[in-house]
Amino acid sequence: MATGTRYAGKVVVVTGGGRGIGAGIARAFVQNGAQVVICDKDESGGRALEQELTGTVFILCDVTREKDVQTLISETVRRFGRLDCVVNNAGYHPPPQWPEETSAEGFRQLLELNLLGTYTVTKFALPHLRKNQGNIINISSLVGAIGQVQAVPYVATKGAVTAMTKALALDESRYGVRVNCISPGNIWTPMWEGLAALTPDPAATVLQGTMNQPLGRMGQPAEVGAAAVFLASEATFCTGIELLVTGGAELGYGHKAMKGTLVEVPTIPS
Ligand SMILES: NC(=O)c1ccc[n+]([C@@H]2O[C@H](COP(=O)([O-])OP(=O)(O)OC[C@H]3O[C@@H](n4cnc5c(N)ncnc54)[C@H](O)[C@@H]3O)[C@@H](O)[C@H]2O)c1
Repeated sequence: MATGTRYAGKVVVVTGGGRGIGAGIARAFVQNGAQVVICDKDESGGRALEQELTGTVFILCDVTREKDVQTLISETVRRFGRLDCVVNNAGYHPPPQWPEETSAEGFRQLLELNLLGTYTVTKFALPHLRKNQGNIINISSLVGAIGQVQAVPYVATKGAVTAMTKALALDESRYGVRVNCISPGNIWTPMWEGLAALTPDPAATVLQGTMNQPLGRMGQPAEVGAAAVFLASEATFCTGIELLVTGGAELGYGHKAMKGTLVEVPTIPS
C-alpha cells in the first residue's frame, strides 16, 4: 500500500525481488507509489509478494538466460506501457572458499549471474529507459572496494559491477539516463543466514557480522530499499555514484580499536 508518492506513476523492475534485499527494494518502491515487476528465478517468494503487495506483478525469470530477460522487459512494457527504473539486485555469494578451492568453472558461473545478468537486463531495458530519462541501480557490495577473505570470485564480480556502473553512467549521460550503484555492507537476509549456518559456529559468525558495523547491527532490506528510492527519485544530479549502505563498516581502523580487537599496543623498539 502506497503511503508516499516519491515515485508515483513510475514502473520499476527489481531482479531477485522475491526475498531479501530485492524484496525490501520492491516494498519501498510500492510504498512510494510505483508499480513494481518482481523478477526472480524462484517462484515461491515472488508469488507471495505479488499477492501481498498491490501494484506488483511477478515474472519468473532467470537473469542468466537471455530469452527470459527479453521476455521480462517486453512483458513489463506490454503491461505497464513504460519502464522508469531497473534495479539489478539478483546475485549470489558462494560459501567461503580459499583461492585453491575455487575453480574457473565456478568463477565463470558467478560472473554469469552477478555481472553478466546485470549487463543483460540493462541491455534490454535501456531503449525503454532512454524514452523517460529513467535510471539504473546496480546492487554491488562494499567488499568490491575493500576486499573480503575467502571470496576472490565474489569480490571480483562486485568490483566489476561498480566499475561497469561508472562506465555506463558516462555512456548513458547523453540520453539523460542515470546509472548508480548501492554497495551494501552486512544486511540480514536469507542469504546471510544461510551462509552463517554453514560455519562451525553460526551464532559467533552472526555476532562478528554484526560487530563489523560501527552502528552495532546488521542493516535491514528496507534500509537498502530506502536508498534505492532516494537514488531513483530525489537524486536527480547523481550518476555513476556508489552509495554505501554499510552502517560505517568501511571505517575500519578506529572502529576495530574501539570494539577491542586491537588490544595489544605494540612497543616501538628503542
Ligand atoms: N545480504 C548482504 O549482506 C549483501 C551485502 C552486499 C551485497 N549483497 C547483494 O545484494 C543482492 C541480494 O542479496 P540477498 O542477501 O538479498 O540474497 P538472497 O539470496 O536472500 O536473495 C536473492 C534473490 O535473488 C534471486 N536470484 C538468484 N539468482 C537469480 C537469477 N539467476 N535470476 C533471478 N533471480 C535470481 C534468488 O532466488 C533470491 O530470491 C545480491 O546481489 C548480493 O550480492 C548482499
